[in-house]
Amino acid sequence: MTTVAPVRWNRFAQWLHWLIALMIVGMGTVGLLMTGMTPSPDKIKIYALHKSFGITVLMLVGLRLVWRLATRHPPEVPGPAWQRWSASAVHFALYVLMFAIPLSGWLFNSAANFPLQWFGIVHLPALWGPDPAVKHLAREVHEDAFWILATLVVVHAAAAFKHHYFDHDDTLRRMLPGLPPPDGDKP
Ligand code: HEM
Ligand code: HEM
Repeated sequence: MTTVAPVRWNRFAQWLHWLIALMIVGMGTVGLLMTGMTPSPDKIKIYALHKSFGITVLMLVGLRLVWRLATRHPPEVPGPAWQRWSASAVHFALYVLMFAIPLSGWLFNSAANFPLQWFGIVHLPALWGPDPAVKHLAREVHEDAFWILATLVVVHAAAAFKHHYFDHDDTLRRMLPGLPPPDGDKP
């Protein structure tokens, strides 16, 4: 049986997109601030929360990718080929980075020989044994990948606003929860 591609992202995809975006911004901000804290019990707690929320982001991104690959999604917005290509390339890169950041954090934590408990409930295995070289590399990847992601998100958001304010198409609206369906879509 063939199914018709939906005109907009469904509620699940919309909420997941904004939840993950919000969590990544929060995680990045906390990550950058916490490294400068003087050693204290609060610093340890914040590090533990950063790791637990980071693993949560990893799970949500995994869920999102599975959903994305398993279901029909809205077609590309019509436009010049270079725009469709660059949008796909940026989306692909964002997915890669959304996995690379938490996984490199986990790898860093493992190579530094720190234990990892998800909110104190589930003990997660180490991805690697104690290893200063891997620890150093994973830490670099964790930070650099975050800055690459931050740059791409600025481009990505600017493109969404360009579609909305200059091209007057539904690219942004179809990712916003709670808006009425655009013309031609079934409720
Ligand atoms: C989407 C999820 C995540 C984001 C956006 C994120 C972002 C960041 C950022 C921006 C920093 C500061 C880097 C620096 O200035 O050195 C940082 C540090 C750190 N992150 Fe994450 N992180 C995430 C997930 C994780 C996970 C899952 C773990 C471990 C399981 C983790 C472990 C760490 C650790 C240990 C540091 C401190 C590194 C140090 O003290 O040198 N992060 N994170
Ligand atoms: C950390 C922040 C963000 C990340 C990681 C992110 C990631 C993504 C990804 C990977 C997609 C492709 C969806 C897919 O094919 O599965 C997407 C779609 C989209 N994003 Fe973001 N996004 C972020 C923030 C934003 C912001 C701030 C805006 C706008 C202000 C935005 C607007 C959109 C729109 C409108 C779409 C749908 C594009 C379309 O229908 O073709 N995103 N986002």
